Parts: sequence; C-alpha cells; structure tokens
Amino acid sequence: MVTKQFPPEFLWGVSTSAYQIEGAWNEDGKGESIWDRYSHQPNHVFNNDHGDIACDHYHRMPEDVELLRQLGVTSYRFSISWSRVLPRGVGEVNQKGLDFYNRLVDELLRAGIKPFVTLYHWDLPQALQDKGGWVNRDTASYFSDYANLMFSTLADRVHMWATHNEPRVVSFIGYGHATMAPGVADFSKSYQVAHHLLLAHGLAVREFRKNGHKGEIGIVIDSEHSFPASYQEQDLQAWQRYYEQDTGFFADAIFHGKYPEYLMNWIGPMQPEIKSGDMQIISEPIDFLGVNYYRGMEVSFHQTGGYLKCKTKHETLPMWGYTEMEWGIHPIGIQMVLKNLQDRYGDLLFVISESGCATRDIVDEVGYVDDKERIDYLRMHFECAWKAIQSGINLRGYYVWSLMDNFEWSQGYSPRFGLVQVNYDTLKRIPKKSFHWYKTVINYNGLFD
Ligand code: GCO
Repeated sequence: MVTKQFPPEFLWGVSTSAYQIEGAWNEDGKGESIWDRYSHQPNHVFNNDHGDIACDHYHRMPEDVELLRQLGVTSYRFSISWSRVLPRGVGEVNQKGLDFYNRLVDELLRAGIKPFVTLYHWDLPQALQDKGGWVNRDTASYFSDYANLMFSTLADRVHMWATHNEPRVVSFIGYGHATMAPGVADFSKSYQVAHHLLLAHGLAVREFRKNGHKGEIGIVIDSEHSFPASYQEQDLQAWQRYYEQDTGFFADAIFHGKYPEYLMNWIGPMQPEIKSGDMQIISEPIDFLGVNYYRGMEVSFHQTGGYLKCKTKHETLPMWGYTEMEWGIHPIGIQMVLKNLQDRYGDLLFVISESGCATRDIVDEVGYVDDKERIDYLRMHFECAWKAIQSGINLRGYYVWSLMDNFEWSQGYSPRFGLVQVNYDTLKRIPKKSFHWYKTVINYNGLFD
C-alpha cells in the first residue's frame, strides 16, 4: 500500500558528473582538465586513483542509459566536461565532444527521460587554470561563451540547466583547504573565486534569457543541515558565520543581490573585489534552486577553528547513525534546510539535486549487493521530502546520488555511492538491491508498506 504519495509529475532522478564517470580523459580531442592534472600528481587522491577510465561511461553511454530506463527515472542529471567540448576552454570547438552529448541527450529522450544538464561540476579546462583559473575575472566570460555553445547545441531538447554545482566546494575546498583541484591553499583567494563563479552564473543566465531558449535554468548549491551546538552567544555567532559562508554567500547574492553583511565584516580584507553592475548580473532571476543534501552538522565556536573560528562535528541521532564516510545521517534536515531557504528567500521552486550515501557494499558470489543501509537512508530522506511538500515547500523533484559507483574526488574509488555496483576491473555494472527498491518507489510515485 502506498503510504506517502508524491505529487503527479514529480521528477524522480539520479545524478552523476562528467569527471566522476566518463573516463576517456584524453580521447577524441578532449583537453586536459584541472582534475586530470590534479589526480595525476602523487598523493592528491586516496590510493592515487584518477578518472582516466572511471566508469568508462564515455564508451558505455548507451548501456548506462538503458540502466536508467530500467530504473524508470523520469529525469537524469549529468554534467558536461568543458574541456571535452572546448579543449582549451575557449576558441576551437571539439565537434566529437559535442556529438557525444548530443547522442546522450537523444538517447535519454528516446528512453522518455528528461535531461537536466549541469554546466560546471568542478572540471575547469587546465588551459584556463594556467591563465589564473577562477581567480581571473575573464574566466567568467569564458564560461558564458561555453554556456552559449552548449545552449545552442542542446537547449532545443534539454529540460533543465544548472550553471554550477556546489560553488562553495570550488571556492573553499578547491581553493583554501586545497584538498580538491586545483589545490590552491590560499583562503584569501576563495571569496574572489566565489564572486567570479557567481558572475559566470549570472552571465550565463542572461545569455539563456536573451536567446529565448526553452527549458529552465538555475544553480545547484549544497546545504547541510547545520545548527549551533548551544544557545551561547559564541556558538550562535559561529553558526551564523558558517551558514553565511556555506549557503548565504551564494544564495544571498543570487536572491538578494548582496553578500551577507556579518560575514563580509568578519572576513574584512578577504572580501572580493566587486565591480559596478556585478550584483545585478548575479541576481538575474532563476527558475529553480537545486539543493544537494547529505548530512547534519553541529557548529561551535573554537579559538583555533580557522579564520571563521568554527568547529564542526557530524551530527546524527542513534536511530539514524553514520554513513560509511562517517557523515551524520539527519533526514529531518531536508525539511529544515528547505524551510530555512524558503524563509530567507521566499517561495522558491526547489529540486533535491543530490542526496545519497556511501555504504560498505559486500558483493556476493553472483555479484549482488544487498545494500540495506542505502535503502534505509533513502526511505527516511524521501519521507522527509514528502513531509516538506505537505508543509507547503514547492519541491519538484529528487535526484539520488548516484546512478552508479564512481570516482569520489579526493577519496578515489573507495566510497561507493551507486544504486548500481561497478566492478572497476571488468567495468561490469550490476544493479544493487536499492536499485530495485527505488524502481518500485518511482513506479508507485510514493513510499509503500
Ligand atoms: C558533491 C558532488 C558530488 C559528490 C557527492 C558525494 O556534492 O560533492 O556534487 O560530486 O560525489 O556529493 O560526495
């Protein structure tokens, strides 16, 4: 019996990204990206893994679309590798790269699946990194040219576009913490990078509107369910700094046309240089907000907690527990995060553009994985998404991360996030138990007993 019925036309999907699954890193004219460069250097990635082959999706795309069709998703979110279509980031176009994405979109439509395209999931062409990467303001206009190329190639058939995936990660982890490409350990650059990412976003949205493309455009941010460790003033303020950096910096700029004042005062000289007219470009209206939701995070004041003076701790409750990566499972956070965003920015149209977990998958003798923990995780999160809808949140879809096991950035291939198991020796794909469970949810358009 269906106990939690989702609205008609609700989008059930899965998400992936180019570098994490495609492989074929230097084939058919593809240029080098910052993730190729970064992962080819020793000790950057766990086990020195890299995405040279990854899931070999570039060569196995029809097989993967067939998996999507079997799963029954109504939408699929994937990203374009910028250096596959523009090997040097600007200038000469690689037709074979465009052909690949044209074929992918056509295959999806043939399978009755709505394409949701992310333009930037962290893999900047290395040639643009050599010119300063996202610290260089010109990268924003290169991005807008690249976006235009993709709009003119695919917008007649694409349902939804996201300019960026998780610009926070690019700004503060790619720069700052430096545990992801391009690995620049300098927080003083992070805010300028963030500003240029947002500028690139706004320029692309303007181009999209100017050319009257059909389909919708938005951006994907990641928002944890963060909360202060106590009601003491120090913790409350530490949380405010954390939230304003994590979410507010990006969402305030887009929806309010300004950066959060408290955070800006706190970071003082690290503030980005903003040119006249930038904030108008950045706050160009968008059609939807994608939210990647994974975990709960408790925030407290700590003298040695970096320049934000924050300490974080993965937070969960005993009945929920931790994922294999020690992330605090916090399903109710979905409701809180969406509600906070709605309170702060008004009645937005949301999609959960990623949500899922790594589990310790044990493959039996016939290659089957009984991933009960993933089913539990998804069931609890779907239930909270349903409750969010009942409470008046305009949530249009839910995309599970991820279709298949893939390259998990600095952690390499060790965490497994897929509904489909990938054997990295043979590249064989085998649907896990969660795949079949999710298929039933999609079929019923709801949760069932
Ligand atoms: C992110 C990215 C994905 C990750 C996923 C699991 O949110 O970090 O969008 O590429 O693989 O989130 O960590």
